[in-house]
Amino acid sequence: MNIIKLNAIDSTNSYIKENAVKNNFESFTVVLAEKQTSGRGQLGTVWESEQGKNLTFSILIKFLDFKITQQFYLSMAVSLAVLVVLKKQFEATFYIKWPNDILADKDKVAGILIENSIVGNFIKNSVIGIGLNVNQTNFSKEIEHVTSLKNISSVEIDKEKLLIDVVNSIEYFVEFIYRKEFLKLKEMYMNTLYKYKIPAMFVDKNNTVFMGKIVNISVEGQLVIELENEKTRKFNLKEIKFASR
Ligand code: BTN
Repeated sequence: MNIIKLNAIDSTNSYIKENAVKNNFESFTVVLAEKQTSGRGQLGTVWESEQGKNLTFSILIKFLDFKITQQFYLSMAVSLAVLVVLKKQFEATFYIKWPNDILADKDKVAGILIENSIVGNFIKNSVIGIGLNVNQTNFSKEIEHVTSLKNISSVEIDKEKLLIDVVNSIEYFVEFIYRKEFLKLKEMYMNTLYKYKIPAMFVDKNNTVFMGKIVNISVEGQLVIELENEKTRKFNLKEIKFASR
């Protein structure tokens, strides 16, 4: 495993994007930072993480034959990879919250940011950024519903070992993509999906609150919700949120 360890960097995702081609990084190169000065989250958010306490890292994965239309399977593979490691080692109920947040019970313990470089209809280089809350125990009051593995287990966790376990697990789940076993990935993902088939309140982009239940994920990775009138609607990430936990 090729791990580049940095003390401080703006963002490990940005570091790989800026250096991978120039420095000919091999597939599965891992970049780990003790501190990110501009850690990035989904939808342009900031990823905050106390220096030295957590895992903030990115992995470069190169593909030869991975169609853009199949890109959500990578999100499935990576979130499953993280979830499976946590499930084996910690006592909590872990879920994947669509599209790829990892929850411990109802609180977020890890987030994933995938950035792809595309040539024609294919994904060539994928940068998988993972922020996993490990040994941080205090979070700013503005960030709600967040936890860490130490908060769950009450013990200090060996970050290095956990990193290796997660990277190995990502290699294992990415193999499903190489073998084009997409349906297997989807089945495993759906089995761990937060609030799957359970009535829940959602808020759409117009701030309308409505009841519905998640019944599927479309091929494009959209959330498919069955409304109370039994019609289904598909939503992109920007278009929907849970109204409550
Ligand atoms: C999210 O849930 O919003 C995704 C968070 C992803 C954070 C990680 S930390 C390592 C990598 N570098 C970044 O700038 N972001 C990702």
